Amino acid sequence: MSNITLHTLSARKQAGEKFAVLTAYDATFAHLVSSADIEMILVGDSLGMVLQGQDSTLPVTVEEMAYHTASVARGNQGAMIMADLPFMSYATPEQAMESAAVLMQAGAHIVKLEGGDWLCETVSLLAERGVPVCAHLGLTPQAVNKLGGYRVQGRDKHSALKMLEDAKRLEQAGASMLLLECVPSLLADEITRNVEIPVIGIGAGPHTDAQVLVMHDMLGITPGRTPKFVKNFMPEADSIQDAFRLYGEQVRSGQFPADEHGFD
Ligand code: KIV
Repeated sequence: MSNITLHTLSARKQAGEKFAVLTAYDATFAHLVSSADIEMILVGDSLGMVLQGQDSTLPVTVEEMAYHTASVARGNQGAMIMADLPFMSYATPEQAMESAAVLMQAGAHIVKLEGGDWLCETVSLLAERGVPVCAHLGLTPQAVNKLGGYRVQGRDKHSALKMLEDAKRLEQAGASMLLLECVPSLLADEITRNVEIPVIGIGAGPHTDAQVLVMHDMLGITPGRTPKFVKNFMPEADSIQDAFRLYGEQVRSGQFPADEHGFD
């Protein structure tokens, strides 16, 4: 796979072609994921839960994110690498610039941060300084205590309109991508059609430009209840890398996610 860039992924959106994103946190899995033709690797702060066994993403630090981002960058074979800015590492624009610099220097190609239009100034400052930003809307796990749990967001008219407005404002501020987590499928569709930048979904139905899953979930090795937006690809696959390849193919063909993986 030749190197995937922002330009590649924006062109995919313009052409109506979907792309696949998977989390990875180390060099070996980054090698397997990227050589299975997955276009983007997310070094998610979900590592707090799936690697460290924490009960939320809140304890994850910039230093830990940098360590895992650098490991992923060493194994990567041409995928675009997105790294999460962890909890409270972008509470002010100045702090965001310092934290983003650490992750970009560790090997990220784009950083992701969670929140709505309060982040517009931060997004502009980062973008002007050459740091591409993905804005994460909907269920923002770093705000789990404020949200009162891991719940679908944007179900009522007011919050749906607010999310659509936030998406447009963040795009205007210079965001290069959006990620929608646990959002009704119809709202995700509307947001995707109303912005020019690629929209990645998780629990956001079949109409976004791209899809992301946590690797441990799609390999069926996460303990506990499986969320409805997850599909375990291992039963159809010959190997772990084959599961990654199948996931990529099914996302690009529109087979996954299906309606049944979305929320009303
Ligand atoms: O941290 C992560 O893995 C994420 C995904 C759940 C989108 O942000």
